[in-house]
Amino acid sequence: MPAEAATGIVMPLYPVKASMADAAPSDQNTRWDAFVLANRLRPPRELLRRTLGAFALEGRAPGVALDLGCGSGPDSVELLRRGWTVHAVDSNAAGLQLLQQGIPAQAAERLQLHARPFEDVELPPCDLVWSSWSLPYCPRERWHAFWQGLRAALRPGGRIAGDLFGPRHAWADEDGILTLSEDEARQALQGLQIEAFDIEDGWRPSGGEMTRWHAFGVSARRPDAG
Ligand SMILES: C[S@@+](CC[C@H](N)C(=O)[O-])C[C@H]1O[C@@H](n2cnc3c(N)ncnc32)[C@H](O)[C@@H]1O
Repeated sequence: MPAEAATGIVMPLYPVKASMADAAPSDQNTRWDAFVLANRLRPPRELLRRTLGAFALEGRAPGVALDLGCGSGPDSVELLRRGWTVHAVDSNAAGLQLLQQGIPAQAAERLQLHARPFEDVELPPCDLVWSSWSLPYCPRERWHAFWQGLRAALRPGGRIAGDLFGPRHAWADEDGILTLSEDEARQALQGLQIEAFDIEDGWRPSGGEMTRWHAFGVSARRPDAG
């Protein structure tokens, strides 16, 4: 049974093929295959909906969005549904395949898939950089240049939003996990208009167990000038 059926969260915004058999074996099996399969029908993240709400209030038409570390793309699906053009990036090909299978034909021309590490992608100018639970997997030595590149890719009035892990996160000491202190996270957003800085410092169910969670959910706007 798909994991989302067990949780009762089944909210396909498009008619998504729902059988496990649809997840064709990937030539790039990674530790994320089970996660992306289980999450492909989850509802869009509240932080994303809030960020999109800010664009809507400005009367700004849907533009170009990057969904970095998109997994099977539950948030890409929402962006497409709202009329955005989406560059969905993930090093896990299985997730991208599920995303591609799950969207209607009329959205396909607004979706570009990039099966590669996000820190290696040549970034197009964009209106939104979105990343759900994925930025902490950026190699530490690439982080600074990568983050500066994301900021530079934003058009005036564009927004960057997503999750950063803090030092008290359960996985903070694992290899390949990037954490930032609150000060560092705020510094990374300097010069942008911070619209959300949600601090989660507690416990949440993750990976089948209660997990120490310390994260910053951020959403910030590039000023119109500058
Ligand atoms: C926790 S999952 C989040 C997936 C999706 N954003 C979601 O919210 O359902 C992390 C994702 O980041 C991807 N990932 C990890 N490191 C990456 C990297 N350096 N470049 C691109 N994708 C990466 C993994 O393959 C995985 O799909």
